[in-house]
This record gives sequence, structure tokens and C-alpha cells, in this order.
Amino acid sequence: MVLSASDIVQKINEEGIALPRHIAIMLDGNGRWAQRRGLPRTEGHQAGGSRTKSIVKTCGEIGIRYLTLFGFSTENWKRPREEVQALLSLLKDYLLVQREELRANNVRLIAGGRIAELPPAIQDALAETKSYTASCDKMVLNLAINYGGRAEIVDACNRLLSDPRRDEILSLFGANAVDQFLYSPEIPFPDILVRTSGERRISNFLLWEASNTFFWITPTLWPDFSLEDLLQALREFHRYRLSLSQ
Ligand code: IPE
Ligand code: MG
Repeated sequence: MVLSASDIVQKINEEGIALPRHIAIMLDGNGRWAQRRGLPRTEGHQAGGSRTKSIVKTCGEIGIRYLTLFGFSTENWKRPREEVQALLSLLKDYLLVQREELRANNVRLIAGGRIAELPPAIQDALAETKSYTASCDKMVLNLAINYGGRAEIVDACNRLLSDPRRDEILSLFGANAVDQFLYSPEIPFPDILVRTSGERRISNFLLWEASNTFFWITPTLWPDFSLEDLLQALREFHRYRLSLSQ
């Protein structure tokens, strides 16, 4: 049986699953998905894009408050030029085409990463979609774009050090002083980090934010990530949370 968002809500209620507030996903496996079908990698990214749309919509519908997706990493620039271009163009289309849908679903878009290094057309599409969805308040979709966890920490430290109140902030917050200088300080740290396609690496994602986050890895490739897989992630998180409180 193929699940719908309302089936998931029903299962959540039946099983008494406590939802994570913030889900972060490292969407991986687009290339392998295409390769297994004898298709060019770009087709895998296209299929991954459709999956992204459905997962964003469903997360909003079932009551997830924050969803972070690893859209494009600082390491992705090393891929062949055509693939980088295809990824960036998909991203731009996503921002332009999904704008209406995001607002209709009451989803606010924000982004984190070295945004100023992205092509101007992407920066514009991002700024427009952010302002178009600025008053939406059901879910926050946080896109990590040109994102690297180490770069984020360095950027945050630089901003902290150039803050006139830095000594006060350091003495007040100690090891947490960096928190408020991260790319998206307004959202809570993730409760669950999902990685698709079976890889067991953190890949420079949310290094600071995920220091105490439950990590769940599924062998499913991102273009195959279904609502069943999403439900599975929720169950795993719930089980983990129960194990903590025993
Ligand atoms: C992830 O899939 C897509 C992104 C870069 C966002 P990959 O392109 O890394 O797929 P594999 O790892 O080659 O299968
Ligand atoms: Mg990969």
C-alpha cells in the first residue's frame, strides 16, 4: 500500500509517535539511482527533485516544524561542470516553480551557506522566494546551499570576533557563544539527521548543530525515498527517544 500524508498522521496517532521538531536530511544517491537504470546522472537529480517536493509537502502536512535539506555542498563544485550546472539549474527552477506551492502550503523558505558565492540568478531566486514566503508559519524549509559545516563555523567565529560585544557574549555563553552567529540562528538544532543511500559519513553537514542529534541511515536512494521511509524515520526517532527516558 502506498501511504498518503493522512495515513502517516493516522499511524502517528495510533502508535503514539512523538514527532521530532526538526528533521535534517542529507539527500544522497541520485547518481546511483540513475546509474542503475542506465540513465545520465542528471536524470537522477531530476528524480531526486520530485522526491524533494513530495517530502517537503508531507512534512508540512504531518506537523514537522523545521526541515533542513542538504541541497548543494561546498564540495559539490568539484563535480563535472555539466553536473554542477544541472544541479544549480534544478535548484533555481525549484525556487521559482515551487514558490506558489510553498506559500499555498504555508511553508517559509530560508537558506544557509555561502550564498554570496552563488550565481546571481540563484541569489535572486532565493531572495524572491524567501520574501514571497516570509509570512508563512506552518513549517520552515531550510535549504543548505553552497553549505559546508566547517565553513559555517569559521564564518560564525569571524562574525563573533568582529562583534563589539564579543567579550560579553563569550563570557555569558561560553561554548554556546557561536550558536547565535550560525547561518540560521532562529531555528532549533535538528532532532534527527537522516542520510539516504547507506553512506556512513557526516560529510561536513551541520557539524555544529548536530553535535547531539540522533543519526539515522537508510539504504534507500533519495529518488526512491517514500512516505514509508519517512514514517520509518519517525518511528526510529521515537524509539530512540523512548530509550533515552528509560
Ligand atoms: C545527491 O546525490 C545529490 C546532491 C548532490 C544534492 P549524489 O549525486 O551524491 O548521488 P550518488 O552519491 O552519486 O549516488
Ligand atoms: Mg553522493
